[in-house]
Amino acid sequence: MSPTVYHILHVSSLLVLFGYTFYAFAAPAETRKRVLIITGIASLLVLIGGFGLITKLRVGFPGWIIVKIVCWLGLSALVGMAYKRRAQANTLMLVTLALAITAVLMVYLKPF
Ligand code: HEM
Repeated sequence: MSPTVYHILHVSSLLVLFGYTFYAFAAPAETRKRVLIITGIASLLVLIGGFGLITKLRVGFPGWIIVKIVCWLGLSALVGMAYKRRAQANTLMLVTLALAITAVLMVYLKPF
């Protein structure tokens, strides 16, 4: 498969992951199961797209990829917390944004 396919898979599933993560902070409790399934699948597709790109573009494992994987782990954990910790929703949304922006900075600046 061409790297473009992995790029599209990576970025499209990121849109779904972020959209539903922010929805989770305000969504009614009964949506939890459905949202966890959707974000779980999106999260997996982000990873498949990411590793596909690593292979196709022969990126290897520089520091910026490790940082992105840490951001991805954090984001994947935040969805579950969004339903349980409503009182901290504002802080957790800021953490979500910070992780997303860090991951984007890593890919465009590749600082290490
Ligand atoms: C926190 C979640 C993540 C965000 C917000 C994110 C964001 C992005 C963005 C915006 C791009 C650029 C796409 C383009 O230029 O077409 C990209 C590319 C890439 N991502 Fe991610 N990503 C995330 C997680 C990951 C993970 C977990 C991996 C590795 C398993 C990964 C590996 C890559 C690779 C290898 C590229 C291509 C780099 C290049 O073109 O030089 N990403 N990512």
